[in-house]
Amino acid sequence: MGCLISLNLASAIVVGGTSGIGRVVAERLAARGDSVVVTGRNADRAAAVAAEIGPSVRGLALDLAEPAGIAAALDSVDRVDSLVIAAIERDENTVRDYDAERALRLVTLKLVGYTEVVHALAPRLAPDAAIVLFGGLAKERPYPGSTTVTTVNGAVSSMVRTLAVELRPVRVNAIHPGVVGDSPAWSANPPAVLEALVARTPVGRLATMEDVAHAVLFLLDNRAVNGVNLDLDGGWLLT
Ligand SMILES: NC(=O)c1ccc[n+]([C@@H]2O[C@H](COP(=O)([O-])OP(=O)(O)OC[C@H]3O[C@@H](n4cnc5c(N)ncnc54)[C@H](OP(=O)(O)O)[C@@H]3O)[C@@H](O)[C@H]2O)c1
Repeated sequence: MGCLISLNLASAIVVGGTSGIGRVVAERLAARGDSVVVTGRNADRAAAVAAEIGPSVRGLALDLAEPAGIAAALDSVDRVDSLVIAAIERDENTVRDYDAERALRLVTLKLVGYTEVVHALAPRLAPDAAIVLFGGLAKERPYPGSTTVTTVNGAVSSMVRTLAVELRPVRVNAIHPGVVGDSPAWSANPPAVLEALVARTPVGRLATMEDVAHAVLFLLDNRAVNGVNLDLDGGWLLT
């Protein structure tokens, strides 16, 4: 009986689901009854986070910056209805003070690693499956040290277009958040930094991880949305 019930659960995988926005997405998917796999770089941490989220969640480890190991790491994943790839290993880099090794890790992670995950799981994607990739609005608005981040997030926009064509009828979309104020990457910033960002945001608040997870579920669920790069910034790019 338990087996029959689990076969009927929708299956989701959140790559980079052990922290930040990916974790909140995993929590929302689990809360609505999906069976969820969350991944991080470390198996114990991924298992611990999965256990914290709930009984329908399990963890596994893979390193997107080491693409040769990705397919084997995903061996135990069965059918996939929803695939969310949110992982990031941040890189501060400017062209005048360029660290090619660090740049190479992030470029590999977001461009080759994201694609290799999709490649490895492609035979297991349900025909009505949906994929959401994470870019970010550094693609439009660089900040000091964002050269690699700006470049790879811009490339995610293009990746969506080619994958949506190659994988049809599977849908592929991307979300590009601006500054997500309550995410671990930003919440520890001095209040003045966050206040300056709020002042520049027409809605008068920064996007939250909950806002982003809400939009990810929309992109996963809406059967007509495909090949879309969705900016989520409260109008910040307009100012
Ligand atoms: N936070 C923002 O304001 C913001 C703004 C714009 C765009 N974004 C985008 O939103 C996504 C999520 O950002 P976040 O701030 O929520 O991230 P985060 O809290 O830093 O979490 C990063 C996740 O990626 C995993 N990860 C790191 N390096 C990895 C690697 N080499 N291979 C596989 N997994 C790896 C981490 O797992 P472990 O640590 O467990 O290994 C963790 O689950 C990112 O793609 C980011 O570019 C975020």
